[in-house]
Amino acid sequence: MKVNDVSLTISAVREAQYPETDFPEIAFVGRSNVGKSSLINNIMQRKKIARTSSVPGKTQTLNFYLLNQSLYFVDVPGFGYAKVSKSDREKFSAMIESYLETRQQLRGVIQLVDSRHEPSDLDVSMYQYLHYYDIPTLVVATKIDKVKKNQWNKVESIQRKAMHLNEAADWLPFSAQDSTGSAEVWDWIENHIN
Ligand code: GTP
Ligand code: MG
Repeated sequence: MKVNDVSLTISAVREAQYPETDFPEIAFVGRSNVGKSSLINNIMQRKKIARTSSVPGKTQTLNFYLLNQSLYFVDVPGFGYAKVSKSDREKFSAMIESYLETRQQLRGVIQLVDSRHEPSDLDVSMYQYLHYYDIPTLVVATKIDKVKKNQWNKVESIQRKAMHLNEAADWLPFSAQDSTGSAEVWDWIENHIN
């Protein structure tokens, strides 16, 4: 999809603020600092609409980006960020869970997992949770530019095994730095919104 225009419609902290349109939505989830905002910018071909940071915990609201007046990308706050207070963590997770469980417009979730580390327990439980709610999910291994190409297969097998992805489960390597996987992420999105 060619992205002709993008705007941040709302940074929502509660359901009443979510857009009231019927446009399909794709949400991006993953641990803090895994590269969600960077992936969103990369595939929207915009440098810094979604704010990124080397400091984890940058995105703290559900950010709805409207593309071409027809599709929403939803940047979800990173989970498992220890330095956010426990009450903030609980508030985030209640907001994220209610969004994922009840949002009719949601067509699929892209779950980002860092390709340099073993998936964490939180990564594993997030995937199980999405699977339990029957939400179509694409697992994306981020920052793949940091991994030698001859190790990509190994990253895939480690992630598939740790996260209990069956053979049919969708998995892709991605880099926001060199756009590896960008076209494939778009193919997945287009298959799920049409
Ligand atoms: P929170 O909003 O805190 O949950 O983080 P996030 O998941 O949105 O991560 P963000 O996109 O802000 O990126 C975190 C850091 O990782 C930044 O310093 C990025 O520059 C870096 N980063 C993101 N994607 C890539 C990538 O593909 N390759 C490399 N080398 N670095 C990346
Ligand atoms: Mg972010």
